[in-house]
Amino acid sequence: MVTDERAEPTVVLGIETSCDETAAAVVANGAAVMSSVVSSQVDLHARFGGVVPEIASRAHVELLTPVVAEALVEAGIDGDGVDAVAATIGPGLVGSLLVGISAAKALSLVWGVPFVGVNHLEAHLYASFLEEPDLEPPLVVLLVSGGHTLLIAMEGHARYRLLGTTVDDAAGEAFDKVARFLGLGYPGGPAVDRVAMEGDPAAVDFPRAMLDDGFDFSFSGLKTAVINHVRKHPGLATADVAASFQRAVVDVLVHKARRAVRETGARGLCLAGGVAANSLLRERALDAAMEDGIRCYLPSRSMCTDNAAMVAAAGYWRLRSDGPSSLALGAAPNLRLALG
Ligand code: KG4
Ligand code: ZN
Repeated sequence: MVTDERAEPTVVLGIETSCDETAAAVVANGAAVMSSVVSSQVDLHARFGGVVPEIASRAHVELLTPVVAEALVEAGIDGDGVDAVAATIGPGLVGSLLVGISAAKALSLVWGVPFVGVNHLEAHLYASFLEEPDLEPPLVVLLVSGGHTLLIAMEGHARYRLLGTTVDDAAGEAFDKVARFLGLGYPGGPAVDRVAMEGDPAAVDFPRAMLDDGFDFSFSGLKTAVINHVRKHPGLATADVAASFQRAVVDVLVHKARRAVRETGARGLCLAGGVAANSLLRERALDAAMEDGIRCYLPSRSMCTDNAAMVAAAGYWRLRSDGPSSLALGAAPNLRLALG
């Protein structure tokens, strides 16, 4: 139940350290972004071709204090202006999560304000709400990131029904693996997106797995098909392979998301997660929504990838529905979205 006392805290400092971005943000009323600072560690991990957990936690330790300070300065407030501190508690890398959680608890104790633990997946769902304050459930959210591919019916705030998920690789993982195979570097998604712009998406007809088969996804066969095809046709232009692969992924994502909106009677479709920054996915989702006469909400690219504004927004809603979290709450590396 929402009490007056709980409705009062409105300015939330969010902290995000679940993977390789150290981020802090100040958000008012779960919607107005007063500041959002993201320090990416991508250069530190690039030479290893992926995130190295120990390097990530050490970098969070070094970066978090200046990042939080910058977020407060940009928002024009100090600790007195913060009503609650929210931090991602999972899913993610345990060492990295612990850095953000410990900092958030310490700040909440020093400032005498509530601490609230946030599910990183729920935070991604809230990215659309930051830029579309009038957004109202019921909605279908396609959450596509490096670790997850979830099609979710959002029936209300903190009320989700899982429609489908991947049975193997996440969509972002498929982008990253194919990019690595094609020698496009890390992180793979933005690289494929860039190279695909020069290529022919009809050059290779890659498989669209499980297209009309429920709401689950499968991307590992597509990745293998790309590898086999390139080995058989070594002369093929990389841009054509990237464009054809990207088209296959996007076709499946949009096809299922659009069917989910139809079958659930949702008001609109939201994209969320790092892969929602993909140019073709954004374009095709908008086209499909226009054809179907529904609204499509696309968070700006910086709100699709990991950031702390989405953590502060999700924290605001959690605080309103459940109240503060216990300071005994620890990191939950395998946390799932609470469904019900
Ligand atoms: O949400 P996110 O920043 O971190 C996770 O929580 O996983 O997502 C990162 C994923 C990576 O797999 C990255 O390659 C992918 O999002 N990604 C993209 C694009 N930008 C980031 N995939 C396709 N096209 C993009 N433009
Ligand atoms: Zn994420």
